[in-house]
Amino acid sequence: MYNFNIHLNTNIHFGKGQINKLGKDIIKYTDRLLLVYGGGSIKKNGIYHAIVAELNKYGIHFEELAGVDPNPRIESVREGIKLCRENNLGGVLAVGGGSSIDCSKVIAAGVKYEGDPWDLVLDRKKVVDALPIFTVLTLSATGSEMNSGAVISNMTTNQKLGTGMPGITLPKASVLDPEYTYTVPAKQTAAGTADIISHTFENYFTNVEGGYLQARFAEAILKTCFHYGPIACQEPDNYEARANLMWASSWAINGLISGGTANNWSVHPMEHELSAYYDVTHGVGLAILTPHWMRYVLNDATLDNFVDYGVNVWGIDPSMDKYDIANKAIDMTQDFFCKDLNIPASLTELGINEEYFQVMAQHAAKVKGGSIQGFVNLEVEDIVNIYKAAL
Ligand code: NZQ
Ligand code: ZN
Repeated sequence: MYNFNIHLNTNIHFGKGQINKLGKDIIKYTDRLLLVYGGGSIKKNGIYHAIVAELNKYGIHFEELAGVDPNPRIESVREGIKLCRENNLGGVLAVGGGSSIDCSKVIAAGVKYEGDPWDLVLDRKKVVDALPIFTVLTLSATGSEMNSGAVISNMTTNQKLGTGMPGITLPKASVLDPEYTYTVPAKQTAAGTADIISHTFENYFTNVEGGYLQARFAEAILKTCFHYGPIACQEPDNYEARANLMWASSWAINGLISGGTANNWSVHPMEHELSAYYDVTHGVGLAILTPHWMRYVLNDATLDNFVDYGVNVWGIDPSMDKYDIANKAIDMTQDFFCKDLNIPASLTELGINEEYFQVMAQHAAKVKGGSIQGFVNLEVEDIVNIYKAAL
């Protein structure tokens, strides 16, 4: 296990009605806020009114940035920075899923940066200060509510890149009310669950040895998603399912399971290219690519990781041949995504063909310094092969 640093001081308010804790946390930092949200789901389900009531309770003035797209665009970030500067705002409150939260993080950092905020996305080292960030989570998926990361898209250059700095873009406080996710449609619930699973896989499948505890945490998160994901899709107002998925989303990607064991991530950089070129839903792209990546990287050196996965997570008989266990575990993973979560099984079903695979693979490799040096190193041609297998 490597040395690691973990910085987890987001004040989490988890559970029913916890919105009434938000104002007290915000007022410690500012009484003038930018409220950031997406395409309007928070107005339909009443969350907007609860937020406004809470801000009014504390006399917190706010301006609004509405209409943040899924796969948030740099244009929204620029607009948010302008609103903060023109209105002398001292904090950013995101209400929504990862898109609104990520957009808010880069707005908060951009206010403190003199140049164009796309610089901050291209080079996270330029993120040196930020306004305080607060979140109200409405979709369990990205873990952005309890980490420093932010992913922003520039559709004119077909780029979707991650930024953020530990501590600086970490939310000061996040409200996690599982009831706020009751209105998330089954398709987004499934995609969110696939995203949580993928964050866990990106760390669980590691060639860094000695992270026994992290691996067992990861298995617990995976089992939680495999159990509760389909329940939440079928019974949207099942509190237990929504609550477990929400807490899994935060812990899959806040450093708990990556601390000391992390490799470079593999499937995420490949998926970000799908989103950048085809604007696909992040979790859908991950669910399609993941089983193909697994089959591609299964070899004698990685076999034992897949055996652990099959036996500990899926309960496959440990006395079976090791390759049979590994392949069965991969098949079960693919079936889970396609049959239990009802996510499309192939890129073809999303209308994607080979046209950009070469350039997408080059970008995915370039983001990681020329090749994806992850669980198994992937060169450009390997990435192309995985895209093709997923057609
Ligand atoms: O825009 P609204 O109207 O709010 O509708 C959203 C959107 O259409 C809807 N939704 C959210 N909460 C809802 C709801 N609909 C009904 N009821 C609710 N309670 O769901 C749709 C998707 O929302 P979005 O925020 O885009 O989803 P998600 O949370 O999956 O975020 C995806 C973005 O986060 C990035 C992804 O790449 C993508 O850009 N990621 C961020 C990460 C991070 N910051 O650490 C890590 C991830 O790996 C990921 O890359
Ligand atoms: Zn993700």
